Amino acid sequence: MVESSPNIPVQRLVDLHIEYAAGVPGNRESLWHTLGIWQLKQLKYLGLNPGSHLLDVGCGPLRLGMYVIPFLEDDHFWGVDPYAPYEKLAKAIMKETGCRKKYTIKIGADFPFVDSGRKFDFAMAQSVVTHLSNNQLDHLMTNLKRSMAPGGQFVFTYTDNPYPYGIFYEMEYPMITPAGLNDKYFSKLAERFEIEYLGCPGGIEPHPTGQRVGVFQF
Ligand SMILES: C[S@@+](CC[C@H](N)C(=O)[O-])C[C@H]1O[C@@H](n2cnc3c(N)ncnc32)[C@H](O)[C@@H]1O
Repeated sequence: MVESSPNIPVQRLVDLHIEYAAGVPGNRESLWHTLGIWQLKQLKYLGLNPGSHLLDVGCGPLRLGMYVIPFLEDDHFWGVDPYAPYEKLAKAIMKETGCRKKYTIKIGADFPFVDSGRKFDFAMAQSVVTHLSNNQLDHLMTNLKRSMAPGGQFVFTYTDNPYPYGIFYEMEYPMITPAGLNDKYFSKLAERFEIEYLGCPGGIEPHPTGQRVGVFQF
């Protein structure tokens, strides 16, 4: 059971994307609620509670945020994303949920959360590591190492592609899709950053689009 499910119809979310010139509506919108609820459920399964501080890496226009901000205490959500139109779209979406809690979104591609003034208990990157180069992932891990609470968990989804390829996110923002992401790669990364790679903990539900799930513990 997910508390305070914000019942915004998918058509309304599509209309808001168009109104705020925030990209081309596609399958991300059709699975909007499924993916928002899936993220919240997995975080709660891993121990997220209202007092936790949560970081959403690649928060988009708050697909997870619209579910989790009402659940968390005021000002316990911090999101980062490089795609500037999402800032205003996220604000419009949160307004429609009726939730008035404070949250932060920082726009930037270089993981601008080290100055958040808090240590995060959980971080989530849903379908984001799938868009980062190996160097960007190193940069993300460096910033997480500085920003996660001891024992904090970073949950991420990924695909193991045989070849890297480039995309234009929302037909304008250049991003890559890396290859070679697998348990061996993440275990080595954990070794370098002196943290633990837990793989996909038992009890995590399958990802709605079939992506794999991994968890680092700090
Ligand atoms: C498929 S969307 C997923 C959005 C969100 N996590 C969700 O579940 O709705 C991928 C997101 O990754 C973001 N992204 C790409 N490069 C990034 C970077 N360097 N830092 C943070 N986010 C990034 C994109 O802007 C986009 O919002």
